[in-house]
Amino acid sequence: MPSKYILVTGGTGFIGSHTSIALAAAGYIPLLLDNFSNSDARVLQRLNNIIGTTPKLVEGDVRDTPLLAKLFGDYDITGVMHFAGLKAVGDSVADPLSYYDVNVCGTVNLARAMKASGVKTLIFSSSATVYGEPESSPIPEHAPFAPANPYGQSKAMSELILADLHKSDPTWRIARLRYFNPVGAHESGLIGELPQGKPNNLMPFVSQVAVGIRERLTVHGNDYPTPDGTGVRDYVHVMDLAEGHVAALRHVTDNPGLLTLNLGTGVGASVLDVVNTFERVSGRPVARDMGPRRPGDVPAYWADPSQALATLGWKAKRGLDEMCADSWRWQALNPDAYDRRTRPRTTSTAV
Ligand SMILES: NC(=O)c1ccc[n+]([C@@H]2O[C@H](COP(=O)([O-])OP(=O)(O)OC[C@H]3O[C@@H](n4cnc5c(N)ncnc54)[C@H](O)[C@@H]3O)[C@@H](O)[C@H]2O)c1
Repeated sequence: MPSKYILVTGGTGFIGSHTSIALAAAGYIPLLLDNFSNSDARVLQRLNNIIGTTPKLVEGDVRDTPLLAKLFGDYDITGVMHFAGLKAVGDSVADPLSYYDVNVCGTVNLARAMKASGVKTLIFSSSATVYGEPESSPIPEHAPFAPANPYGQSKAMSELILADLHKSDPTWRIARLRYFNPVGAHESGLIGELPQGKPNNLMPFVSQVAVGIRERLTVHGNDYPTPDGTGVRDYVHVMDLAEGHVAALRHVTDNPGLLTLNLGTGVGASVLDVVNTFERVSGRPVARDMGPRRPGDVPAYWADPSQALATLGWKAKRGLDEMCADSWRWQALNPDAYDRRTRPRTTSTAV
């Protein structure tokens, strides 16, 4: 019998590669599409070490219409998880057209190819950035859209396009998953996040200081109205996120519709909570300085993940200790992260 695949766009990236493991563990066959603009082909061998087989990979761009037509013709694809995209907020302000092109046009092109081939099951990577600066936390899914930068806009626009698509044909099965702050790595330490150049995100920065690649962490702001004065975020382990995708896929497969869910822990952790936990689980000091607030940073936000629990039975299982321990294992085993540290940064950071 021919294999049935779940197409994973951006499948060699941070969240796509971890989700491919969760898909394989659940009995699905992931088929990866990636243009390697922010990933490395060596991830495939690592996935083989974890899954026991090398996932099929098609190298190419999600905006390439003929390529997608061929892909859907060549493989029996039953559903799609769409991770491919650009994710650096700062870069999106400097180069909005690239963000709208890859993130919005890429999503439209993919959905069109799916429609043409009759594949109507789509799990979409959205982001808590669609909420902008939320008035209060925890943030429920019905909080207003208020993206504050082109990256967030590109996710909000893609969400609206998918809602219109579903309205035009209610037999579509679409999940729009809004991630909070994905961190951690697979417990094997074989795959993890691959920041290029200097990371803007906290966890990769902390782990690079702990391993000795960077001298000190600057904490941006310690005078926020939070318990210790530093910014509070909802960090979620990437394997929890990956399992949330599989749960969403199962759900929409059985229930056609348009699903919109937050994926977060519902618990806020401050910058100092993360740094102190990281020091404790790694046994390494993380030198830090207090610096001024960064423009545009929100003091605190975290998810209301109760809808994901009610709808999918999904709840994040891994706490901050595990997030830090797994990030540290990945960093310690791969200090050069495929030599990418030294390459110029294109799209290294996310919100
Ligand atoms: N990491 C986060 O903090 C975060 C938070 C919220 C949402 N997201 C979203 O989740 C998705 C995955 O994020 P990630 O952290 O794994 O990022 P990532 O950069 O590690 O992975 C994205 C992958 O997509 C590939 N890609 C980029 N443009 C492509 C294109 N045009 N065609 C084909 N492949 C392309 C990259 O090479 C990379 O492998 C993104 O859409 C991102 O916006 C990420």
